[in-house]
Amino acid sequence: MTQQAIYLGVNIDHVATLRQARGTRYPDPLQAAWIAEQAGADSITAHLREDRRHIQDTDIERLNAQIHTKLNLEMAATEAMVSIAERTRPWACCLVPERREELTTEGGLEVAGQEKRLRPLIQRLLAAGIEVSLFIDPEHQQIEAAAALSAPVVELHTGAYADAPDHATRNHELDRLRNAAAAGQKYGLKVNAGHGLNTYNVEAICHIPQISELNIGHAIIAQAVFSGLAATVHQLKQQIRHARANHQA
Ligand code: PXP
Repeated sequence: MTQQAIYLGVNIDHVATLRQARGTRYPDPLQAAWIAEQAGADSITAHLREDRRHIQDTDIERLNAQIHTKLNLEMAATEAMVSIAERTRPWACCLVPERREELTTEGGLEVAGQEKRLRPLIQRLLAAGIEVSLFIDPEHQQIEAAAALSAPVVELHTGAYADAPDHATRNHELDRLRNAAAAGQKYGLKVNAGHGLNTYNVEAICHIPQISELNIGHAIIAQAVFSGLAATVHQLKQQIRHARANHQA
């Protein structure tokens, strides 16, 4: 039986992290998005955090206007963020929990129990023609709540699987993801997955047939540093040598 295709959304947040570390204009996340698209990315993901630690509002505007694929805007489920999304109208919004002190999105959104707060925000995004995705832990309860809120998409948090300290925990987490993906499909949801995925752990996730899209960021940008490091040093070394030789001539 042929499987459905699995799509890749490339998260370019950490290109912006590098830029913000120096307050420079480079590296530009838009340029990173174009390179990712040329290499086969199916969509571009960016997280506009409330503390603006990496991606800035202008990045979102530029990405939305100038990428060639589709923008998936990750954001907290707040009034302010929904207003930005309504103005910008990205292809999709993924609602994530956010805590200022966290290094990254550490857990899924507690959808179950927050229906009253989330429903109007989700409705506004849907009314704006935006595909709404809820970033949740792989739990039946969360999937049921997402479906009850008419969110068309869930993204399963793969962090616990990716960070599993041993085989038994990894297999347990994989089972939770498999069960959640199957439950998501039963409820008619599109099921995506992401967080902490890399070249070593992605294959088992690809074998879960209900998963249609993966969002991967940190590992791609980290690997890209090493893929380009030797060539970049070589180029600069040549430039330095030529500059000295030309000056002496
Ligand atoms: N999906 C969501 C909802 C996220 O919040 C993140 C991190 O911003 C990712 C995917 C990508 O995670 P990573 O950078 O670990 O690949």
